[in-house]
Amino acid sequence: MSGRDVVLVGCGRLGSAILEGWLKTGAVPPERLIVLTPSPKPASEMARASGGRVNPPLDQLASAGAVVIAVKPAIWRAALAPLLPHLAPDAVMVSVMAGVSVAATSEGSGGRAVVRLMPTTAVAQARGVAALWTDDANAAAVGRALFAPIADLVELADEADLHAATAVSGCAPAFVQAFVLALAEAGAAKGLSLDASLKLARGALRSAAATAETGEPLEALIDRVASPGGVTRAGLDAMASGGVSDLAAAAVEAAIRRSREIG
Ligand SMILES: NC(=O)c1ccc[n+]([C@@H]2O[C@H](COP(=O)([O-])OP(=O)(O)OC[C@H]3O[C@@H](n4cnc5c(N)ncnc54)[C@H](OP(=O)(O)O)[C@@H]3O)[C@@H](O)[C@H]2O)c1
Repeated sequence: MSGRDVVLVGCGRLGSAILEGWLKTGAVPPERLIVLTPSPKPASEMARASGGRVNPPLDQLASAGAVVIAVKPAIWRAALAPLLPHLAPDAVMVSVMAGVSVAATSEGSGGRAVVRLMPTTAVAQARGVAALWTDDANAAAVGRALFAPIADLVELADEADLHAATAVSGCAPAFVQAFVLALAEAGAAKGLSLDASLKLARGALRSAAATAETGEPLEALIDRVASPGGVTRAGLDAMASGGVSDLAAAAVEAAIRRSREIG
């Protein structure tokens, strides 16, 4: 793929985040970028200003080595159909769509090789995480080249694992934020102003993220804050007896079920 163009189809929430990550890191040089988007977006305009091509004539797709499909699963076939006659047979399809299998994507793209990734939108800051699966070694190399600079990559053993990976990474920022919001509301119920409680809880989330970035085991990070018999340990014990593990399992289970339904 080295030296070949990269096409991004779709510049919505995730497509824009990917584009921002590439522009920030230089993982894809702007002059090799082709962005296809029905309406202009801040990220597509940023790409254009940096030398990228936005909605160029489709014959320019002939030199593309990779096509990143970042549209909704319901419309990907319609979005891809007009592009296919212009693509080289060896262009790799890089799908970030939830629930659409490698087999279906390959069948809908003229039998081309496919790699699936499930990234978080923190790829915009080059601090995302992404699960990757493919059965094609070249497609895997393309997926790594595009996403390793903007995300921690976790390569899965089985395509079916993408459902659980989606729950544990793609959905999880919202799960964690929902918990932090509940903490802030609990603090407000105990007398803090809601504003103060929200500010404190957001700060705690930022602190948790910063220490998690060190790569130390989560158990060690927890133990560092929670000394035996202390205040944090009392709260953790209450969480355990309140069923925090069951709650996490239920959230993951429901997300997996919905991911399977969409696919
Ligand atoms: N958001 C996430 O955190 C996340 C995480 C993992 C995976 N995903 C996957 O990423 C994909 C996109 O999700 P999203 O949240 O980014 O959705 P989104 O914000 O709705 O973006 C989809 C984009 O597709 C564009 N589009 C529609 N038709 C198109 C066409 N023919 N050619 C090119 N672009 C076209 C739309 O353009 P207009 O705005 O101009 O209509 C829209 O901006 C989905 O398949 C989803 O499963 C998302």
